[in-house]
Amino acid sequence: MADLNELSEKLNGIRKEIKTELEKLESSKSVFEYKKTIFDSKTGKVGSLMREMGKIPNDMKAEYGKRVNEIKTWAQDLFDEMDEKFKAEEMRLRYESEQIDVTMPSIKPKHGYLHPNTLIRNQIVDIFGSMGFEIYEGSEIETDYYNFTALNTPDDHPARDMQDTFYLSDKFLLRTQTSAGQIHVMEAKQPPIKIISPGKVFRSDDDATHSPMFSQMEGLVVDKGITLCDLKGMLDVFVQKIFGEGTSTRLRPSYFPFTEPSVEVDVSCFQCQGKGCKLCKGTGWIEVLGAGVVNKKVLEGCGIDSDVYSGFAFGIGIERIAMLKYGINNIKHLFESDLRVLEQINE
Ligand code: PHE
Repeated sequence: MADLNELSEKLNGIRKEIKTELEKLESSKSVFEYKKTIFDSKTGKVGSLMREMGKIPNDMKAEYGKRVNEIKTWAQDLFDEMDEKFKAEEMRLRYESEQIDVTMPSIKPKHGYLHPNTLIRNQIVDIFGSMGFEIYEGSEIETDYYNFTALNTPDDHPARDMQDTFYLSDKFLLRTQTSAGQIHVMEAKQPPIKIISPGKVFRSDDDATHSPMFSQMEGLVVDKGITLCDLKGMLDVFVQKIFGEGTSTRLRPSYFPFTEPSVEVDVSCFQCQGKGCKLCKGTGWIEVLGAGVVNKKVLEGCGIDSDVYSGFAFGIGIERIAMLKYGINNIKHLFESDLRVLEQINE
């Protein structure tokens, strides 16, 4: 370097260039990158100045060093200032974009629901459980004897036609009714007996209100002095708990081989309070279950003395109750597992 003027010119040029370049930059990151190139000790416009010291005449060395340090401090300050300015703006933008609206409604977590059948079954079990009933779970494969013969329905009995049966062999079948459980319980135990027996049953039957597989809840009470009045009183409590206060029952004569007398039980329509509506087809009543006083023949067949003991039995269709309670018009909705249907029904 020939003289100080030349040095001044060179350094001024560098300052000018840095200033112009900095004006073009738009982020703290680009300032950082640019600073790295300027201060690079080998190639940087400022960083490499000290390497030139060797070429500087001795009498200029002190002044050169001083000026180089000056430009270094100047550049450093300038970069710091720019960096601060950009960072402040960047921070502001970030805060603005990350602002959270705490009043916004949250996204509801998805969770499963119990199936309507399960809901109804649990409710029924709770109601009878609170009345002191025990649960007996029978098996879905039964012998012809337990499903029919022991229930006073021998081979040639016309009542066998009431239920279209899936036979597995001459002897075995898919139970058509949870009533088969009555026999197992009475064979195993002398009264007092007070059980409910929920489970799947099978019949070759298929339309909007019937399915080849459905669920029943059997009830059986055997003790001294049990009458149809006990059945009626217990059913009144049951229907009020499941369909709401103010619901009452009506018994109509019916026929089942294993009960005598037999009844169909209607509830007063819980939708129109008995006035007559679409649900009860204008009658004010809805049929919900079959029941009756246990046939003496059935008691005797199980080794229970029918002169000492008597009992009542009832069979509730779980899907039927679920359909009535939740306004489901086709039993298939209960078996198709369509979440859109199931999600509407939760308690
Ligand atoms: N088992 C009968 C049916 O499935 C219902 C029932 C049970 C009737 C108990 C009387 C007593 O239709």
